[in-house]
Amino acid sequence: MSASNDVTVRTRVTDLLGCRHPIVQAPMGWIARAQLASAVSNAGGMGIIETSSGELDAVKDEIRKMRDLTDGVFGVNIAQAFVRDPHIVDFVVGQGVRFVTTSAGDPPKYTAQLKAAGLTVFHVVPTLAGALKAVEAGVDGLVVEGGEGGGFKNPRDVASMVLLPLVASKVGVPIIAAGGICDGRSMAAAFALGAEGVQMGTRMVSAAESPVHDNWKDAIVGAAETDTVFLNRFSKPGLRALRTERTTRLEHEDHVPMTEFGKALDLYFGGDMEAAIALVGQVTGRIESVEPVAKVIDDTMREFASVVGGLHRLLPA
Ligand SMILES: Cc1cc2nc3c(=O)[nH]c(=O)nc-3n(C[C@H](O)[C@H](O)[C@H](O)COP(=O)(O)O)c2cc1C
Repeated sequence: MSASNDVTVRTRVTDLLGCRHPIVQAPMGWIARAQLASAVSNAGGMGIIETSSGELDAVKDEIRKMRDLTDGVFGVNIAQAFVRDPHIVDFVVGQGVRFVTTSAGDPPKYTAQLKAAGLTVFHVVPTLAGALKAVEAGVDGLVVEGGEGGGFKNPRDVASMVLLPLVASKVGVPIIAAGGICDGRSMAAAFALGAEGVQMGTRMVSAAESPVHDNWKDAIVGAAETDTVFLNRFSKPGLRALRTERTTRLEHEDHVPMTEFGKALDLYFGGDMEAAIALVGQVTGRIESVEPVAKVIDDTMREFASVVGGLHRLLPA
């Protein structure tokens, strides 16, 4: 297979989302903005614009920029626990996007309103119970998020290897797998476990077009698979982050308050890795270089085809 343009995979996810490749860039506060998301959409994936920063005016500008930077499709994430603006659904519908992921909250809350406005809605779930509730609420699909992923997590985290086939065996809607995916081999594994699309978070934080400071990208490239910590195991909000001096200290605390994120932007864009908490997944241990998004997506599709082909050849002719 010479180029990823030769490799296309048609699934219910590509059909519903209208993108060429079933690869979604994760929503991430301040990071999932036009510079990164347009690179993903231009490469045939699904770029997502965040709202979890709560900066809806800035988000509106980013959506406007998307229309200048790409002809590709893109979506918006509503991180329910972070955006409590009662007009958030009107806001998102008003931006003219066709695809929304809802996360960090109760699935029935916005689904009916978003569906009534004609949007395609996927809800992010960390458990089977959450998946069943979301399906009951009428979502078009699920983002099934394993506990190895970076970001806010259910404190009773379940790895993708268990969660994906469990949810896939109990629901009929299409699944996008999130958590631990950075390349074609992990995408093929997710498909074997029941997914029809994948979402990459940590891999996209470290991409060339990601707006974060190089110190964060270098930390991802340099980290081992054991270099994440789980904070608030017995409290809320549970989250998986990069191991630093700060998070190693916090790991032992009963409750880590949100104020620990106070200087987030000094970390995100100033490069001070001890200023706040860098959300990162265990897959950091598999990321070996900073690459442009187009290369990440091309390489992923090519490797996916090669891995699936290799498995197929194991079967008797
Ligand atoms: C820096 C960072 C910020 C994130 N912010 C959000 C968010 O705003 N909304 C959301 O639904 N998920 C968020 N997540 C979780 C991602 O959407 C994604 O599911 C997760 O990163 C997948 O695991 P991976 O890091 O192994 O790829 C965030 C993850 C990271 C690493």
